[in-house]
Amino acid sequence: MSSKRVLVVDDEHLIRWSLVRALDGAGFQVEAAETGAEARAKYREFRPHVILLDICLPDANGTDLLQEFKADDKDLVVIMITAHSDADSAVRALTAGAADYVGKPFDLEDVLHSIEQALEKQRLRDENAYFRRVLKEKFDRDSLVGNCPKMIEIYKLIKVAADADAKTVLITGGSGTGKELVARAIHMHSPRSKDPFIDVNCAAIPESLLENELFGHERGAYTDASHKQKGIFEMAGAGTVFLDEIGDMPIGMQAKILKVIENRRYRRLGGEDDVISDARIVAATNQNLPLLVKEGKFRADLFYRLNVMPIVLPSLVERKMDIPQLVAYFINRFNGEYGCNVEGVDAQTMHHLMAYNWPGNVRELRNTIERAMMLDRNKTLTSQHLSSEIINAGKSNNDGCGGEGGEEGPEEDCFSSGLIRLPKDGISLDEVEKQLIQMALKRWSGNQTKAAECLRMSRDTLRYRMKKFGIPK
Ligand SMILES: Nc1ncnc2c1ncn2[C@@H]1O[C@H](COP(=O)(O)OP(=O)(O)OP(=O)(O)O)[C@@H](O)[C@H]1O
Ligand SMILES: [Mg+2]
Repeated sequence: MSSKRVLVVDDEHLIRWSLVRALDGAGFQVEAAETGAEARAKYREFRPHVILLDICLPDANGTDLLQEFKADDKDLVVIMITAHSDADSAVRALTAGAADYVGKPFDLEDVLHSIEQALEKQRLRDENAYFRRVLKEKFDRDSLVGNCPKMIEIYKLIKVAADADAKTVLITGGSGTGKELVARAIHMHSPRSKDPFIDVNCAAIPESLLENELFGHERGAYTDASHKQKGIFEMAGAGTVFLDEIGDMPIGMQAKILKVIENRRYRRLGGEDDVISDARIVAATNQNLPLLVKEGKFRADLFYRLNVMPIVLPSLVERKMDIPQLVAYFINRFNGEYGCNVEGVDAQTMHHLMAYNWPGNVRELRNTIERAMMLDRNKTLTSQHLSSEIINAGKSNNDGCGGEGGEEGPEEDCFSSGLIRLPKDGISLDEVEKQLIQMALKRWSGNQTKAAECLRMSRDTLRYRMKKFGIPK
């Protein structure tokens, strides 16, 4: 039963009567008007979705009325009723924004068909606009942050994947590393960005429903299938279908996805004909697909097909140098969302955040900052609301050698050193200098030129100070 409202405007009683009856029978809410004046009044009161408008009314010109209504509501569907001999006015009406026209005498079936088609077109337009808006908003809010060399590589890959439009992309990485953000970024930067990006969580949809969800069904495909229903591939059009958690896709479905990738074809449930898919597939998983292949849980042929363009996201411990930037980004974001005025975190807190190994990656960091901001209304966040795991990691790393479980790497020495914090009992500047020189040398495996560069001093000065502090070469 459609709840759409249709206004019939025609001065001929018989036409009004027959249209009202047919539309009412088809489940529309219908009102009728005989003149232009009455049509204006009914339009205001009844706010129709569709108007069937006679082009020739006793007190008004149908095309003028059409323009008037469309100026008020550009989404209004107007279908003109014209005399068969009047093709010129019909064309003028179409140019002025009518969705379609029917010539008198008309077949009621044709009128209903024309309305259904115009409404379907509008629905798809709305859907696209909706998806574009949601995607853009989400993307603006969730844009990728980080400038470490590994992330720069990822940005390059996103560009390559967006340009290599037809290829399937496989994004892997731990939970919370930003796989979905990367998938959206690829879509947004590809020529498909004007079409929908639709994500499907293959792990969240029961096997029995997944096929229906992806491919849709024909009318009568099963007991409850009273209408034909589009699946995600059809709705995505020439956009992107993001198959998230593909490692959890049932093996039977994997064969069907392979067919879509290889032949761009699939079948609706209960359908006898192949439907062509224009959508691009981007898949993601935090599982080890080669291992699943070995265990017989994932099809090898699908894995190779997906893996033509792999993107492997680094975990957060592999890019600790991005933590301060991510922290600033989340503070800024939650300031906006919650109306807070947080300016940053104190040195102690940063020390803990740098030392922790972040098994939940960026998502865990985001949640940590969000929680601290909810509980601490001061301008500078302190470590009082950090979890005990984070605090303990900071404590056990006070000796300045990077996060527990983290990789030894240049970035970590910079931030996780005890030097950054002022110890309770104070510290001499000489000691600070000595430790920094030792760290720089360690970072560059004893290369004095590099260590000196990194400390912004000449090699001679470095050597002089090494001697002064008794640091071996
Ligand atoms: N590089 C990044 N810059 C900014 N925010 C990020 C980044 N990476 C991840 N995030 C944030 O972390 C959250 C998790 O990201 P996302 O959902 O893309 O991760 P995922 O890899 O898909 O995780 P899962 O495997 O659990 O689905 C997002 O809400 C986003 O805010
Ligand atoms: Mg995800």
